[in-house]
Amino acid sequence: MVRNVAGVMTELEPEDFYLLSGVEQGMRFSEWVNRGKLPQLSGLSPEEVNYRLDRCATRELIERKTIQYEGYTLTAEGYDALALRTFSKRETVDGVGAPLGVGKESDVLEVKSYKPLALKFHREGYTNFREVMRERDYTAENDHVSWLYTARKAAEREYEALEALYPDVSVPQPIDQNRHGIVMSKFEAVELNRAQLPQQQAIGVLELILTEMQRAYDNGYVHADMSEYNVAVSENGVTVFDWPQAVSTDHENAHERLCRDISNLLTYFERKYPNATDRIDAESDAVRIANSIAAGQFESVDNIS
Ligand SMILES: Nc1ncnc2c1ncn2[C@@H]1O[C@H](COP(=O)(O)OP(=O)(O)OP(=O)(O)O)[C@@H](O)[C@H]1O
Ligand SMILES: [Mg+2]
Repeated sequence: MVRNVAGVMTELEPEDFYLLSGVEQGMRFSEWVNRGKLPQLSGLSPEEVNYRLDRCATRELIERKTIQYEGYTLTAEGYDALALRTFSKRETVDGVGAPLGVGKESDVLEVKSYKPLALKFHREGYTNFREVMRERDYTAENDHVSWLYTARKAAEREYEALEALYPDVSVPQPIDQNRHGIVMSKFEAVELNRAQLPQQQAIGVLELILTEMQRAYDNGYVHADMSEYNVAVSENGVTVFDWPQAVSTDHENAHERLCRDISNLLTYFERKYPNATDRIDAESDAVRIANSIAAGQFESVDNIS
């Protein structure tokens, strides 16, 4: 997990954000932004830039590297700080709390607002970028690996899906989006992989999830990363989350993804609840259920033709 930036937020002054935002703008053209360009990019005087560079580097919001010139780049924490600043100005976030989860490509934190919410920072591209940076010597100014762009696109795609699906589908309520961050309602449920359902409830829960997939399909989306890790269950029902890779039902691979999503779920239920699922055959039923969802007709695992 990337270090939680909450601790330094209160120490930062408006000019620190001008500097960070200047580095961010320079990164559209080059991973390492030339120090000489920063006064113009940030609107700060050269002396002020020097002072702010030190403050931000000490707090690990930026990194420095001398190549053919002295260059600066945002760290993940620096990008987090910029997004948090925006959320706080828009009054969607009042403060940052404890981590709620660490995914393969995200950090999810609890945030304070009019009620506790969840903030997901996308990290797509960032981990790769760190590896590439270690292995390669950056020399060319335009040799540019844009994790900022990749992570922001993932957040935008996920937010778009949540907006299209909520409230018809049981997904977190989308509240706000900026850069690589999404603010959404926080669920209290436990992930399916950590839940131990009574055998007699297993099929019922599976059908609840498939019903949400039917509703998502009716609203134009296939999840495309469905698994026991991206569904949460509670007494109140199921929540399907983690939507950045969702595809439109018009997409040429939509049906294949739908079959794979359903097959993942059925395989999981078969393995974990063998006694409850003996009437299911993951392989053949996945296709039949996918066809019934695509036809808008899914009702129960027994009633599919
Ligand atoms: N809205 C939310 N409310 C509460 N907890 C959440 C919320 N969204 C995500 N989480 C927690 O954070 C974890 C990671 O979230 P999510 O699956 O969206 O991220 P990810 O990085 O895409 O995961 P993956 O490893 O599947 O790629 C979840 O397993 C869950 O524990
Ligand atoms: Mg996930």
